[in-house]
Amino acid sequence: MKKLMIINGPNLNLLGTREPDIYGSLSLNEFLDTVKEKYPTVEIFHFQSNIEGELISKIQEVGFSFDGIILNAAAYTHTSVGIGDAVKAVKTPVVEVHISNTYAREEFRHQSYIAPNAKGVILGFGLQSYELAIQSFLND
Ligand code: DQA
Repeated sequence: MKKLMIINGPNLNLLGTREPDIYGSLSLNEFLDTVKEKYPTVEIFHFQSNIEGELISKIQEVGFSFDGIILNAAAYTHTSVGIGDAVKAVKTPVVEVHISNTYAREEFRHQSYIAPNAKGVILGFGLQSYELAIQSFLND
């Protein structure tokens, strides 16, 4: 069975209540439950943290044994050289995801320190961005 790790960065624990016009009204747990049900042939793990170093440690921890990492580094996407370096350092392919279309938003969201080292980037499809990332690993 393939092992995928979904890693979510700062403020994504507030999904469902945080700016629902941008991020939707489903909570993170509700969404993860439906996704795990929908893909019973994949082992889907999840980690969320508001702390940059914890995100880096998790990438290092799973980055040599898992089949894929689905990473929404949230605001750290646009600022974190450390997370970008971690993505580069590990063997496990990383797909960068975003719920919103960051290119249709403020200019500071157009920069990503993850993308140059990611296998691919999926953004702007709401929570479906995560599902599309899961599917990308199923076809490998
Ligand atoms: C986000 C986009 C980021 O710019 C923002 O800081 C987030 C969420 C998204 O999923 O659309 O927190 O990563």
